[in-house]
Amino acid sequence: MTDPPLPTNNDDQLKLWNGVAGQAWVDEQALLDALFRPFEEALAAAARAASARRVLDVGCGTGATTLAIARAIDESAGPGGRCTGIDLSEPMTALARERARRDAVANAEFLCADAQAQAFEPATFDRVVSRFGVMFFADPVAAFANLRRAATDHAALHCIVWRSAAENPFMTTAERAVAPLLPSMPARRRDGPGQFAFAEPPRVQHILGAAGWHDVALQPLDVPCALDPAQLDRYLSRLGPVGVALAEADDATRDHLLQVLRTAFAPFRHGDQTRFTAACWSVTARADAISTAPA
Ligand SMILES: C[S@@+](CC[C@H](N)C(=O)[O-])C[C@H]1O[C@@H](n2cnc3c(N)ncnc32)[C@H](O)[C@@H]1O
Repeated sequence: MTDPPLPTNNDDQLKLWNGVAGQAWVDEQALLDALFRPFEEALAAAARAASARRVLDVGCGTGATTLAIARAIDESAGPGGRCTGIDLSEPMTALARERARRDAVANAEFLCADAQAQAFEPATFDRVVSRFGVMFFADPVAAFANLRRAATDHAALHCIVWRSAAENPFMTTAERAVAPLLPSMPARRRDGPGQFAFAEPPRVQHILGAAGWHDVALQPLDVPCALDPAQLDRYLSRLGPVGVALAEADDATRDHLLQVLRTAFAPFRHGDQTRFTAACWSVTARADAISTAPA
């Protein structure tokens, strides 16, 4: 069977993150932020250590990383440090804004827009970061070239992305377990937008190099994660491709599939907890100089 054509624009992602997937990330914000906090802390600590002043958080979602960086750079560099989160999901950026208001983080701001196409003010950001938000572009070279234009010369790029599906079996166990029962669930593609789009170092090197970033380096970053039984059920029934498919299932089908899923995840169980390692890359790069002195 031949694969369907790759998307030529971000419309599918727009629909997904403004629909079932975006709502699940809003509803499960506390769970996801607790699970992935070490990545947020790594990005914020690095921004602080680099004395960053204007930071762009790409695919910021419900805002945890943007808020952490806004706090970190405000404390380290005093007033004037600012972190801007951009995300194409309306419900997720709405929650991010609400969190900034609630927690009185005045130097965090949020933009609901497509980072691939957004007409940023040129040469604005001295640091561009992301926690799991840069793997979904239909045209990643165009997207990173756009981010390069938004960055100052020699600005730093620091993105956390997933390594391969093979190194992250927890992330694909659900779809393998229920694929025979959900034949309409779309299969993941290695070469298209999605969670594992930045898993292969040569592909990442090529994308960033072609988009005007140099000194590209990928360092493995492994983070132990744990879920209690109630959290695992919520994770399985709301998140990832299976969570999206289950949103359309009736109650009886959902209960049956959840039972199948619990069994499939037994190998990850340690006592009361389900444990896995998030196997990621910490990707860093520098913006090529494109500014030229006036003639
Ligand atoms: C896996 S979530 C990560 C969210 C957040 N960074 C976090 O760690 O909680 C991926 C995010 O990327 C966003 N996204 C996908 N394509 C995008 C695009 N073209 N422009 C901006 N955001 C995008 C989605 O809306 C979603 O919020």
